[in-house]
Amino acid sequence: MCGIVGCIGTQQAAPLLLEGLSRLEHRGYDSAGIAVLPPAAGSAPRIVKRAGRVRDLADALPKRFAGRVGVGHTRWATHGPATDANAHPHTDASGRVAVVHNGIIDNAAALRARLTDAGVELTSDTDTEALAHLIGRSGAETLEAKVADALSLVEGTWGIAVLHADFPDRIVIARNGSPLIIGVGEREMHVASDLAALVRYTTTVAHLADGEMATLTAGGFTTYRQDLSATATTPTHLDIEAAAFDAGEYDSYMLKEMFEQPAAAERVLSGRLDDRFGTAHLGGLGMDARETRAVRRVKILGCGSAYYVGQMGATLIEELVRIPADAEAASEFRYRDPVIEPDTLYVAISQSGETVDTLLAVQEIRRKGGRVVGLVNVVGSAIARECDGGIYLHAGPEVAVASTKALTTMFLGCALLALQLGRVRDLSVADGRRLIAGLQALPGQIQEVLDSEQELVPLAKRLAEAESLFFIGRVRGYPVAREGAQKFKEISYRHAEAYQTSELKHGPLALISPAVPTVAIVPADELVDRNVGALHEIAARGGPLVVVTHREVDLGDLEGREGVARIDVPRTERELDPILLTIPLQLLAYHAASHLGLDVDKPRNLAKSVTVE
Ligand code: F6R
Repeated sequence: MCGIVGCIGTQQAAPLLLEGLSRLEHRGYDSAGIAVLPPAAGSAPRIVKRAGRVRDLADALPKRFAGRVGVGHTRWATHGPATDANAHPHTDASGRVAVVHNGIIDNAAALRARLTDAGVELTSDTDTEALAHLIGRSGAETLEAKVADALSLVEGTWGIAVLHADFPDRIVIARNGSPLIIGVGEREMHVASDLAALVRYTTTVAHLADGEMATLTAGGFTTYRQDLSATATTPTHLDIEAAAFDAGEYDSYMLKEMFEQPAAAERVLSGRLDDRFGTAHLGGLGMDARETRAVRRVKILGCGSAYYVGQMGATLIEELVRIPADAEAASEFRYRDPVIEPDTLYVAISQSGETVDTLLAVQEIRRKGGRVVGLVNVVGSAIARECDGGIYLHAGPEVAVASTKALTTMFLGCALLALQLGRVRDLSVADGRRLIAGLQALPGQIQEVLDSEQELVPLAKRLAEAESLFFIGRVRGYPVAREGAQKFKEISYRHAEAYQTSELKHGPLALISPAVPTVAIVPADELVDRNVGALHEIAARGGPLVVVTHREVDLGDLEGREGVARIDVPRTERELDPILLTIPLQLLAYHAASHLGLDVDKPRNLAKSVTVE
């Protein structure tokens, strides 16, 4: 998704902006640009922008591009194709204003028509250009008032950063639905839409709230509402190292992040398990025992992989807590005018904490008086702040678009929630302790699966040759299959479809053939016989099989047959099976994509955090 950077201070802006933009590349984008205010008083901003990568932009920059105030942008096309003209920054007719914008202006068509009627010549297809003209045409005296004036005419979402030749000592920024973080440096100030672009310069940051604006000067920043009344924002120091955002010795961020899963799992559990009472302590939920006991139903909301992990979590919660629990795609939830029940606990799951669909679902629930807690990775993110309570996942920065370690911590977050909810109801101390022992063993067991990486490479290469694949599973295994198919398709671009094993006969079996492999999730659980039966049906039609299973599972005469391979994962408590079954699927997707020569960290058309609907 689009990215914003900006800086003002004593250093030359262009190199800082390019470095910042390269740190945002993982978010997904198709063009990039920067604007810098030259040192000569009153000079209009100089702008260079290009469709393509940040390195194309760097190649296009003139040798001399001096200036200590600038903004930059990576664009992910929404209004109009990826062209030089549509790339940001955009200017007004005078060329004295430069604007970068994340988000979508819903009334762009009406604003553009009004501007054209007023004789303005528009030079791009974008919604952002309208905003630049509105700022340029505002009769207000200060840059702050001009920007506020323009925003009062705009409907939609925005994170913006604005330069103006008449106000060369400042950058004005504003947020409504698209994240912006202010970075406080030594005699310089930064802004970025993602922490990754700031950490090299500073770890003292302030998150702008929705509806807030700020002015950055070389010496500091002030925040205020759109009516220009002041707000109080205190920067916080983040305990994070810039190296956490580097791939280090690994070939890719995805590989690094998969191998960070054991450590991430330990962090999310750390200090939250209580063996004495066989429960979990999640103080951040802000719910006492009485309120926890009053919960009669759990509804989990997330998008994409977070939704699939939500499904794993809902199954786990229903099994342990014995109350109805289900998961729903947050992107659909709001649009069916959902009934919000006072005794339902709504749980929003998100790595970035900025996924707009999940954020809007949270707002819808709260607007209707429901209680929503968040399982969120990014500290201070919009979803974390909007929820009534929640827990941080402590997965550490996740840079690769394909989520891995954050998902593992989401599942464990659900397990912790299940323990806390279960132990105020009928979950026994013994069962609580059984679960805790299982959870404590997981980091080591995840490592065991990761250690088998090389054995999976030949299988991944074989799967990569297929144009189309099925991933199948039942009950606990079905969301695992969905997540496996998701990971495979998003980075290898192969068609991968998840199905309940039980539904195979009701349609998809027609597609099974030697050209269509199936990855089957077959844990040693109560459904194992039925699952193995389905494998025979596939094998009888010549369908190649990769069975992700436990050592104890006997595949009968399928064992060792050509076209049938098995991957054994360690046994855990049955409720925790999904997470260990998921890890080999990440490795298969990764090695399939690598074998195909694809950039696993930047899959085509996808973005790390989806901040537009
Ligand atoms: C898939 C993936 C996406 C995200 C989804 C939600 O690997 O990463 O499907 O899971 O976009 O993102 P967050 O968790 O940031 O809300």
